[in-house]
Amino acid sequence: MSMSRFLVIMSGLILGSLAAFTMFAPPPVQNAPGGQVAATGKALIGGAFELTDSSGKRVTEKDFLGKPLLVYFGFTNCPDMCPAGLQIIGAALDKLGADASKLSAVFISLDPERDTPQVMGEYVKSFHPTIMGLTGSPADIANVAKVYRVYYAKTEPDPATGRYSIDHSGFMYLMGTNGQFAQHFPHTVSVEKLAEGLRKAM
Ligand code: NI
Repeated sequence: MSMSRFLVIMSGLILGSLAAFTMFAPPPVQNAPGGQVAATGKALIGGAFELTDSSGKRVTEKDFLGKPLLVYFGFTNCPDMCPAGLQIIGAALDKLGADASKLSAVFISLDPERDTPQVMGEYVKSFHPTIMGLTGSPADIANVAKVYRVYYAKTEPDPATGRYSIDHSGFMYLMGTNGQFAQHFPHTVSVEKLAEGLRKAM
């Protein structure tokens, strides 16, 4: 190929990758509702949601104000990540002993089709009596995932069994007593580290 054609192709590639970079770059920092400037990015996680608890009662973010809130997302059919994270949460709550009642811990389903309020209630009970299971309509779940910037996607169902899985991000979010984002933990956090973070937030 000629040198000029090579240059045209190269500049096209460079422009193309610049465009791709711009497309996937994080959105610019915006003013959060309420006029707080999200300079640290903190205010971008968390916000208004409405879900259903395991007794069928509708709950919103306002029901959790006044206590730190640990939020973890997943689904009850998850083979590994969700139960591992919930086991850590349960053990951290055990470590806090009676102080565990000074905070709320919720497990929010990303699989509203299968995770009914009853299924969620049964599931979380096996990890710790104070963990609350929350689910809702597909629209409720899409909203709360957006508010917490959680990625989730249903996989193609198995042609033989029709079973599907949910790909999802696996962070735990700790919200302060005022409902503002405080910090996040990976789902592989140690029990000690998580318990320490929860205790500090009280
Ligand atoms: Ni999972």
